Amino acid sequence: MKILKDEIAKLIVDETGIEYNEILAALTIPPKTDMGDLALPCFNIARKLGKSPNEFAQETADKISSKIKDDSLIKATRAFGPYTNFFVNKAKFFSLIVNEFVNSGVKNLRLPDNKKNIVIDYSSPNIAKPIAIHHIRSTVIGNILGNIFENCGYTVTRINYLGDWGTQFGKLITAFEKFGNENKLEKEGIKHLLDIYVKYHQEENEDMENKSRQWFKKAESGDTAAINYWKKFKSISLKEFQQVYSRLNVKFTSTEGESQYNDKVDSLMELINKKAGTRHSDGALIIDLEKYNLPPVLLKKTDGATLYATRDIAAALDRWERYRFDESLYVVAHQQELHFKQLFKTLEIMGYSWADRCRHISFGMLHFDDARMSTREGRVIFLEEVLDRAVDLALKAINHKNPKLENKEEVAEAVGIGAVIFSDISKRRIQNVVFRWEDVLNFDGETAPYVQYTHARTCSLLAKADFDINSVDSIEGYEPTPMEFELIKFLTQFSGKLLEAKNEYEPFIIARYVLDLAKLFNRYYYQEKIIDNPDKQKRKAKLLLVLAIRELIAHCLSIIGIKAPERM
Ligand code: ARG
Repeated sequence: MKILKDEIAKLIVDETGIEYNEILAALTIPPKTDMGDLALPCFNIARKLGKSPNEFAQETADKISSKIKDDSLIKATRAFGPYTNFFVNKAKFFSLIVNEFVNSGVKNLRLPDNKKNIVIDYSSPNIAKPIAIHHIRSTVIGNILGNIFENCGYTVTRINYLGDWGTQFGKLITAFEKFGNENKLEKEGIKHLLDIYVKYHQEENEDMENKSRQWFKKAESGDTAAINYWKKFKSISLKEFQQVYSRLNVKFTSTEGESQYNDKVDSLMELINKKAGTRHSDGALIIDLEKYNLPPVLLKKTDGATLYATRDIAAALDRWERYRFDESLYVVAHQQELHFKQLFKTLEIMGYSWADRCRHISFGMLHFDDARMSTREGRVIFLEEVLDRAVDLALKAINHKNPKLENKEEVAEAVGIGAVIFSDISKRRIQNVVFRWEDVLNFDGETAPYVQYTHARTCSLLAKADFDINSVDSIEGYEPTPMEFELIKFLTQFSGKLLEAKNEYEPFIIARYVLDLAKLFNRYYYQEKIIDNPDKQKRKAKLLLVLAIRELIAHCLSIIGIKAPERM
């Protein structure tokens, strides 16, 4: 629609002298297709010029009518009361859009570099615990936002800010000394750490608590034994995280962690005190935010240990120093809303003008509806297990639908993982998501497998047609069917949707768009003859349209981080 709106807006500017943006914003779609394809409501514009809207609408229609040429994108204009309506030259529009897609592929869909840079903090799990199913939301939403911003011309810095510091490491070391086993750690990795951590909590007593506190103190002061333990736990964790990330097609620019800010904290305290003022309260050091209706920020506990909030202040300053970002996003569950309000308020009262460039990108809960996996007592569901099961189920479905498929395992991986990713953005991020196997893997539902299947259908259609894009038949003048006109209009909405997704930090908008595109295409596929069309020009026009659709579906899936197999 953008091309159309642009063209019409330009025509109106030329004829009336009204400002381009005003017209662009005013253009709407008429209630019925026989009333035209776009309409300009003239109420406000006419009033400003001191004319009656009906008169103005008629005048504009007449003036533009006289300018229309054979190759204009507009075929006719007509006034309907206070509206000037425009009828599109559908043949022209069709060949314009299809050719653009076919000639430049999706390259043109990426907006040019806008010299802006954005930092996105996502995933950011705590080490020494496996990535659990609920971590998927930050991981997936953050990664897709990264892709969306990249496609909008931003330079994106993707930070995985590991929870790799805190009193729990004192506990973990104590637990390892008491219950741990090097061989098991070697073999079972994080799972062993989780086991001993659970045991620790079952048996925790005063003596163990004291030991843990001492271990963490040692770690904070750089003691070699403590640090070696910590390093080992961290590298084991990272290795396992990496496996999950690579299956999910999730990438980071840098992997960092809370521990990096540990030794910066003392000088930071001074700075905070100077700029925002701190005080002692019950032995702890706090920033008072009462004036702003927020609870105090706890900077240092009574035992001197530093805290999550303190490290986040240090990290924010560091990110500003390193990147001078235009925006800095924190993709973190809604439970941390208060934390981020306090963090941003602190930055603001410290006098940093960039504080208002920081945003908490919040999201709702994931309810995992699988009795089989969640009833096992008190235990978290590991993301890796969920991915394995999704791939298993996808393989079963493929064995059923297309048993002769060549690279079944590879396709099953793409479909299973795709299903899990897509389920996560099937609603606006702030809403809760319910994960049910029968929903997420439903090939006929609003799912990744449905979209992937549609993409594979476009591929096999093109393969079967065995047609040559460069064949001499021209599609100029081809008059699209109503459904083809719908599809073309839909294709041109992509860029607008991409910007909307960026402005609202909302991957769901891309998911919804590609689903609707797939649905529209499938309706077209069932209702119109594509390959078997005896008319050469028609056949070519239709196949080029299928090609454009295939490109766009694949492009949307790649933004979402989902693979698009050619056969399924
Ligand atoms: N590690 C934290 C958690 O799992 C999330 C960290 C988010 N990022 C941040 N800069 N606070 O809850």
